[in-house]
Amino acid sequence: MVSIILLLLHSVSAATPSQWRNRAIYQVITDRFARTDGSTSATCNTGDRVYCGGTWKGIIQHLDYIKGMGFDAVWISPITFQLQGKTMWGESYAGYWQQDLYRLNGNFGTAADLKALSAALHAQGMYLMVDIVVNHNAWNGPPSAVNYTTFNPFNNPSNYHPFCEIDYSNTTSAQVCWLGDTNVPLPDLKTESPTVASTYQTWISQLMSNYSIDGLRLDTVLNVDPSFWPAFSRAAGSPYLVGEVYTGNTSTACAYQQSSSSSPILPGILNYPLYFPLSAAFASPSGNMTALAARIAEIHNACADTSLLAPFSENADVPRFASLTGDLVAAQNVLAFTLLADGVPVVYQGQEQHYSSVGGSGDPWNREALWFSGYQTQVPLYGLTKILLGLRKWAGGLDQGYWGYGMWAIYSDARTVVVRKGYPGRQVLAVLTNAGSQAPAHAVQLGADKTAATKGQVWMDVLGCGTVVADSNGGLNVTIPGGWPRVLFPQAALKGSGFCGQ
Ligand SMILES: *[C@@H]1O[C@H](CO)[C@@H](O)[C@H](O)[C@H]1NC(C)=O
Ligand SMILES: *[C@@H]1O[C@H](CO)[C@@H](O)[C@H](O)[C@H]1NC(C)=O
Ligand SMILES: *[C@@H]1O[C@H](CO)[C@@H](O)[C@H](O)[C@H]1NC(C)=O
Ligand SMILES: *[C@@H]1O[C@H](CO)[C@@H](O)[C@H](O)[C@H]1NC(C)=O
Ligand SMILES: *[C@@H]1O[C@H](CO)[C@@H](O)[C@H](O)[C@H]1NC(C)=O
Ligand SMILES: *[C@@H]1O[C@H](CO)[C@@H](O)[C@H](O)[C@H]1NC(C)=O
Repeated sequence: MVSIILLLLHSVSAATPSQWRNRAIYQVITDRFARTDGSTSATCNTGDRVYCGGTWKGIIQHLDYIKGMGFDAVWISPITFQLQGKTMWGESYAGYWQQDLYRLNGNFGTAADLKALSAALHAQGMYLMVDIVVNHNAWNGPPSAVNYTTFNPFNNPSNYHPFCEIDYSNTTSAQVCWLGDTNVPLPDLKTESPTVASTYQTWISQLMSNYSIDGLRLDTVLNVDPSFWPAFSRAAGSPYLVGEVYTGNTSTACAYQQSSSSSPILPGILNYPLYFPLSAAFASPSGNMTALAARIAEIHNACADTSLLAPFSENADVPRFASLTGDLVAAQNVLAFTLLADGVPVVYQGQEQHYSSVGGSGDPWNREALWFSGYQTQVPLYGLTKILLGLRKWAGGLDQGYWGYGMWAIYSDARTVVVRKGYPGRQVLAVLTNAGSQAPAHAVQLGADKTAATKGQVWMDVLGCGTVVADSNGGLNVTIPGGWPRVLFPQAALKGSGFCGQ
C-alpha cells in the first residue's frame, strides 16, 4: 500500500500549457532574492559579479511577498552545479555556467531545500518554473584548454562542437559555435546528436520528478538545434515550456510555436518581439505607440497561440525600465500593459520596487539584491500589480474565453494606446500613455465599434476608482490626468469582486 502511494506521488506530472495559461510568473534571481539569514543589509555590489548569498530557503521565507501581488508561479535561476571560483567575468551566481547536471548549486542550498521550496509553492497553489540550460557547459580559461573530464555527464569532447566564434547573421553558426568568449568559453553541446539528446531526456525526466517541477524556462533557444525540443519536451512530461528566443524578429520568434508534425516546437516563448516596441513606446514621450499597436497585430498574425506567450517589460538580461526613464507613471503604464497582455506575464524581481540600476544599464547592473528594498508592500508598483493580476483573474473567472481572447490595440495616437481584451460586457479596456507625469490631462474618444461599450454603460477605472459613462452611441470619452494609466471594466461585471468597493 505504502509503495503504491509513493509510486503515485512520484508520477505526479508537470503542469500542462493550458494549466499555465491563467497564471502569472514572478522571476527570481535566486542569488539576489533573499538570504537564509533574512539579512536586508548584506553586501551585494552588482559590479563585483559575485555570489551575494540568496538561497532557496530564502525564497520560501518570502513567498507571501510574491503571492501578495497575485503571482501564482515562480521562475528560479538554474539549479545545477556551476563553474567554481572567480573568472574574468566574476562568479557563476546567475547560474548559466553549468558543469554538472547531476549536482545542485550548493550556494543555493541542498536537494532537501529545493524540494522544500517546491512543496511550499505547491502548498500555496503556486507553480515552480526552473530555468534550464542545454546548449552549453562553461569553462574558465581559453577554449583550447577545456578539460572535458570536469563535466558531467558530457565528459567527452565528442559530445561538443569544435570551437568557433558565433556569426549572428548565420543561423547555423549560432547553433554550432560557442557562446561566451575566450576568457569564459561555453563549450557547445551537439544537441543534434542522438546520444546527447537521449542523455538530456533521461536527465530532464528525473529532474521534473525529483523536484516536482511544473514548467521550464529554456535558456538560449536560438543556439540550440530546434529538432532537439519535441522529444525533450515529451521526456519532461509535456509541460509548459517557455523559450528564450532572444530576437525582436516576429517571424523568427513565432516560428518556434509553429507545428512540427503534431506538436509545436515550444508551447511558449518569451515575447521579445513585443518587448522592444513596448519598452521603447513607454520609455519616453516620443516613444512610438503606432509601432507598438502594429507589432501587436503582427504577433497575432505570426504566432500560433498568443495565450501561451510570456510578455515582460524587464528581465535579468535587459535594462531596468527605470534606468530608461525615472518617471513613475511611465513605469505604471508599461507594467499595466505587461500584466494585461496575452499570455503568461512575467515580472522580474525588483520591477515592483521601481528598481533602477546603479553604475550602468543591463547585466550585471540590473541584478540588484531585492533585500535592499526591505520587501516593502506599500509601494505603488506592488499595489498596481496586485490590482491588475486580480482583475485578470476576475475577468478569466467570469469567462474562460478571456484567456484565449486576443488583446488588440483598438486605438493609438502619438502618446496613447488603448488595448482591449475580452468579450462584450466583461472586456478590459486599458488606456495607456507615455505622456508622463508633467503632461496636462488629455482625452481620447473611443467608438463603440471598437470597445463594444453600450449606451449609458458605466465603466469603472479599477486603478483610480473613477467612472466613465458611455454616451448615447456607446462612445467613451476617457480623460487621462497626469500621464496615469486607466484600466476600465464594466461596473456591472465587477459586482462581488471587491475592486473599488464593488
Ligand atoms: C581534468 O580534470 C580532471 C577531473 O577534475 C582532473 O583529474 C585532471 O587532472 C584534469 N586534467 C588536467 C590536464 O588538468
Ligand atoms: C554559417 O555557419 C556555418 C557554421 O559555422 C558555416 O559552416 C557556414 O559556412 C556559414 N554560412 C555562411 C553563408 O557563411
Ligand atoms: C533524481 O533522484 C534519484 C534518486 O535520488 C537520483 O539517483 C538521480 O540522480 C536524481 N536525478 C536528478 C537529475 O536529479
Ligand atoms: C526576420 O527574419 C526573416 C527570416 O527569418 C527575414 O526574412 C526578415 O527579413 C526578418 N525581418 C526583419 C524585420 O528583420
Ligand atoms: C512609428 O512607427 C510607425 C509604424 O512602425 C512608422 O510608420 C512611423 O514612421 C513611426 N513614427 C515615428 C515618429 O517614428
Ligand atoms: C471629453 O472630455 C473632456 C474632458 O472632460 C472634454 O474637455 C471634452 O470636451 C470631451 N469630449 C467630448 C467629445 O465629449
